Amino acid sequence: MADKTSQTSLWNNEALTNGATKYEPLSSVWEGSDGELLEAMLSFYPSIEPEPILDATYNTGRFWKGSSRDVWSMDINPKYKPKIVADNRTMEGVPSQMFGTIVYDPPHVGPQGRDKSVKRFDVDFGATMACGKQHNWTLSYLYPPFLKQAKRVLKPNGLLLAKITDMVNSHKSRWAHSDFMRMAEEAGFTVCDLIVKIRRGPMMSNKWKEAHHARKRHCFWIVCRNGDSCER
Ligand SMILES: C[S@@+](CC[C@H](N)C(=O)[O-])C[C@H]1O[C@@H](n2cnc3c(N)ncnc32)[C@H](O)[C@@H]1O
Repeated sequence: MADKTSQTSLWNNEALTNGATKYEPLSSVWEGSDGELLEAMLSFYPSIEPEPILDATYNTGRFWKGSSRDVWSMDINPKYKPKIVADNRTMEGVPSQMFGTIVYDPPHVGPQGRDKSVKRFDVDFGATMACGKQHNWTLSYLYPPFLKQAKRVLKPNGLLLAKITDMVNSHKSRWAHSDFMRMAEEAGFTVCDLIVKIRRGPMMSNKWKEAHHARKRHCFWIVCRNGDSCER
């Protein structure tokens, strides 16, 4: 993992134009871990200092194991002991224009199982938000209020990095990544990039042994900038 000094020179355009740092391309398909990808994105995209970083769906903070980044944890569930216990759709008490980057990894499925009780999987993956008929069988309704707050608490030209997974629910594909990209533009972000992150194996379900859609082996990381331009 790159140290903090080299990160600082990477987001510093002056250092780049002086040739102080070497350009490293970033692939649009990523086979490593989320943590490694985040580090690569935080070296590649920022046009302003990317820290402090708000992780708006922290859970146990798997993304940041071994990282020395200045990460402010937020989660709606106090049991994870985040620095900020808050609903990221309101972010009460969080000052405006405070963060250089926001990371967002919302639940991508609703509560599992017929009785909708909270099971181990649901708790570990935050699958506790309603995702039924009243929400047209998707969790995309969570995005607009979050995006409004993300825009408020991000500095101008700050980055929003969102991990979004499509799903099949009630016998239809629900294209969460497409919803998120459209909603981010509507909220005033520029959607700059889309990275396909590959899992080691497809997600399988004991419930749907024969499903006539492809088993997803990927999710998307969507890169948005709180500004008008894509390229820095
Ligand atoms: C998929 S998990 C995040 C996993 C995390 N990125 C990791 O790698 O450890 C989603 C988390 O978002 C939290 N969450 C769900 N809705 C939220 C909301 N409205 N505001 C803040 N946190 C929320 C859940 O409690 C859960 O911990």
